[in-house]
Amino acid sequence: MKNSFKKPTFLETVVKTWKILRDYRKSYVLIIVFCVSAALFNALAPFFLGKTTDSIYQSLTKGIGFDMTFILKTLAIVLGCYLIEAICTYFKSIMASDLGQKIGFDLRHKLINKINRIKLSKLDTMKKGDIISKITNDIERLTDNLTEIIPDLVYNISLIFGVVVMMYVLDPLLATLTITVIPLTFLLLRFIVKKTQIYFDYNQKAIGNVNSFVEESVTNNDIIKSFNKESYFSEKFNKESRELADYGFKSSFFSSLAVPFNKAIGNLNYLMVVCVGAVRVIRGHLSIGAIQSFIQYMKDFNKPMNVIAQVISNLQMAIASVDRVYEILDMEEESNGYLKDIGFNSTIEFRHVNFSYVPGKPVLKDFNLVIHKGEKIALVGKTGAGKTTIVNLLMKFYDNYEGDILIDGISLRDLDKSSYRDLISMVLQDTWLFEGSIKDNIVFDKKISDSKLESILSKSKILHMIDGLPGGLEFQINEETDNISAGEKQLLTIARALVSDPQILILDEATSNVDTRLEYLINHSMNSLMKNRTSIVIAHRLSTIVQSDRIIVIKHGQILESGTHKQLLKNKGYYYKLYNSQFDINET
Ligand SMILES: Nc1ncnc2c1ncn2[C@@H]1O[C@H](COP(=O)(O)OP(=O)(O)OP(=O)(O)O)[C@@H](O)[C@H]1O
Ligand SMILES: [Mg+2]
Repeated sequence: MKNSFKKPTFLETVVKTWKILRDYRKSYVLIIVFCVSAALFNALAPFFLGKTTDSIYQSLTKGIGFDMTFILKTLAIVLGCYLIEAICTYFKSIMASDLGQKIGFDLRHKLINKINRIKLSKLDTMKKGDIISKITNDIERLTDNLTEIIPDLVYNISLIFGVVVMMYVLDPLLATLTITVIPLTFLLLRFIVKKTQIYFDYNQKAIGNVNSFVEESVTNNDIIKSFNKESYFSEKFNKESRELADYGFKSSFFSSLAVPFNKAIGNLNYLMVVCVGAVRVIRGHLSIGAIQSFIQYMKDFNKPMNVIAQVISNLQMAIASVDRVYEILDMEEESNGYLKDIGFNSTIEFRHVNFSYVPGKPVLKDFNLVIHKGEKIALVGKTGAGKTTIVNLLMKFYDNYEGDILIDGISLRDLDKSSYRDLISMVLQDTWLFEGSIKDNIVFDKKISDSKLESILSKSKILHMIDGLPGGLEFQINEETDNISAGEKQLLTIARALVSDPQILILDEATSNVDTRLEYLINHSMNSLMKNRTSIVIAHRLSTIVQSDRIIVIKHGQILESGTHKQLLKNKGYYYKLYNSQFDINET
């Protein structure tokens, strides 16, 4: 874990934090103003309270009557100071919680949008659970800290500042004695911060890892059970969980050291000031009211020092979270072209395309292919040959390829991806459905009348399957999307493509693992889907693609041979062998 984590410098994190706060600077400044005001009025009160004590003391010792006007006036000032402090704190708290929610909302929105724009090649490298953890846990931590901890820090620093000024007004000698602890406390805090920050970073990362693991094992729970791998996964989980506990303990242990050490320093200081102060009062250098104020200031001085020591550890968590949120925000985005008005009229061409997901492991090698409008192309080849990769590049999911891909002679790199993708529909190996009704899943956000939808579905015979489900189009797919079969899912994704009515159609392995009745339905609906469209079909089962205009045989990322089914059988090459082996297997 240690090696994979590149820590940004403190300054970089401060800049990132500022970038987050920049848009809310007006509210933030107001919160800070309330904090500073609250602290300064808080610091003013004991001074006037001391003046009241002095007045009472003098009346008692000199045997004269109480100066009630003075006493009432100073008490009113004390009351006024505390009232203003309370009002400022009230407004600060309301504004801070409001701002926290706002920043959280905006950041979540920003992160989700960013994830939609990140290059797939980069997104592939991130764990799903860790992304979830960043969007939920880290954002919450970050906003809590930005809107609670920093204002707290400002309040306490202002309080210390106000208290020190008032102490100097009362007695410069005692004041100087008091502030000697500041460098000592500072050194202590520095030591602890250095020691703990690294553990806070690891702690947040460990939370992400545990989340990833939970996400993975919950989604694949049936597979884990079927392979009897519960204990293996439980041991693996324990390892991740132990790591989290370990970093959690280390970070809170070191950060918790700050408070007792700081308290000890504060108490020693208190003792020193009280002793020296008592001597000064006895010798007549200081009034009794002044020492009373001073002792109250000592409390006001030590308390914020302890709070600062405490909030520093929370701030460290926020810093770790800022860095983690920026791990997503700083990721490289998909590049986009400038051409928006896009049609498809003649050809799709792969020209000398070289591509690899992982550097040094080429997947497509000098790949050349021209597909004409209206053609029905089939890609065949063994697993791992590069068929899905060809489609991934055509979909503009990856752009780090050499050579060029041209649509009507225009480079794919120049096309605006969202306008371009409007031309295409994909029916994929992994069917993707979401919780909701069948209708929602098919229609998405496209505006289409119920009668038109039903006519499209009935032409392709999919309606028959849907009507067989309870509630028909209103049948609710559950959150795990496991209350319908794999074949039914594929039919629904075909229906989705039919409704979106694309010019170019891509079908990847659309007919795997289904019974003969469903296979017939799928073949039928696929045929109606391909009618009058340019289509690229990837299928392992060659029986489904014999009708294609051209079959392209791929091996190790290159075209081995191509032609119609008949031509390729006649050639007696790779396809011939592939076809016959399947035929044999299917027969036996
Ligand atoms: N996201 C990825 N990151 C790294 N390597 C990948 C990725 N996707 C695919 N590969 C690798 O690229 C090669 C080609 O994969 P591809 O998915 O194109 O094969 P395919 O012909 O579609 O296979 P199948 O018939 O099994 O679907 C394989 O060796 C695969 O391991
Ligand atoms: Mg594939």
